[in-house]
Amino acid sequence: MTENLVIRPIEEKDRTAVISVEGKSMPHWRYVERVFDQFMSHPTGEFSIAELDGRPVGIAKFTTMPEGSAWVETLRVDPAYQGRGIGKSLYTRFFDTAKSQHVEILRMYTGMQNKVSRGLAEHFGFGLEASFYGANFGLESPHPTKPHSFKPVSDTNKAADLLMPLSDNWNGFMVMNRTFYKLTPELCNYLVAHGRVFADGSGNVVAFGARFMPDVSQHIGLFGGDAAACFNFAVAEGQVRQAQSLACLFPVMADATRFALADAGFEETPAGFIVMKGNV
Ligand SMILES: CC(C)(COP(=O)(O)OP(=O)(O)OC[C@H]1O[C@@H](n2cnc3c(N)ncnc32)[C@H](O)[C@@H]1OP(=O)(O)O)[C@@H](O)C(=O)NCCC(=O)NCCS
Repeated sequence: MTENLVIRPIEEKDRTAVISVEGKSMPHWRYVERVFDQFMSHPTGEFSIAELDGRPVGIAKFTTMPEGSAWVETLRVDPAYQGRGIGKSLYTRFFDTAKSQHVEILRMYTGMQNKVSRGLAEHFGFGLEASFYGANFGLESPHPTKPHSFKPVSDTNKAADLLMPLSDNWNGFMVMNRTFYKLTPELCNYLVAHGRVFADGSGNVVAFGARFMPDVSQHIGLFGGDAAACFNFAVAEGQVRQAQSLACLFPVMADATRFALADAGFEETPAGFIVMKGNV
């Protein structure tokens, strides 16, 4: 079925077709139009299109991560062409790209109920690494906050000292825009370089910001210390940044985090998420 399938890097001329493929395959959750330029400018991560007999039928993005793994994301196949091996061909492209870049680990996420996406990953040897729930806090109306003393952390060693001990509580991940970053010293350096670590000098720390679409949502990637103090900072900073909402993904086993988010008024998203890991 896929003899006439060509997979190649997306070019500017493909913009409309790429947005259209996502629109058809993802009725409710879309973001490609907003991230197209960012995905195109990523020097080591191919943004790919699959064409069947010249027709655009699928897209996928390979993104290298701070610690050297790759995040495989935005895999979409036009429903009219699903079940014909196009998703598998895009996965094969992920592995080819990984090999050419000496990347040894691939990760992806999907919804807990997305059997096809999970089955496809399992087909390529991926195994479950962690399960997360999500929670959101609307910022459409103003929320009063208390004064706080959170400031960006600019020292990478200090950031690692603050964040690395939180690894067990967060299943080893920091999540922004549903991108699961492995919590490593390299990630701490990356977060500091992007101004995404905030601490108040009293042991409270939040990884905070957005990988993309900062106006839609600001993300609490992880936090440690006094939850109420961390959320007070996040609400204050989210309002300064004029975001529509705050989001936080947390491990399913993290009951204390779950209750703290609920106490602060966060609402859980209906379904959870899984992150899966594959070896190249
Ligand atoms: C997920 C998606 C990309 C798959 O694309 P596709 O072209 O239909 O996939 P393929 O035909 O190449 O591969 C299908 C494989 O998925 C797996 N699969 C399909 N249905 C499955 C099911 N019900 N249970 C478990 N695994 C299943 C199998 O491994 C199957 O291979 P097989 O036919 O050899 O058994 C496509 O369904 C899609 O675009 N979905 C909407 C977007 C999406 O969910 N993206 C994923 C991450 S958010």
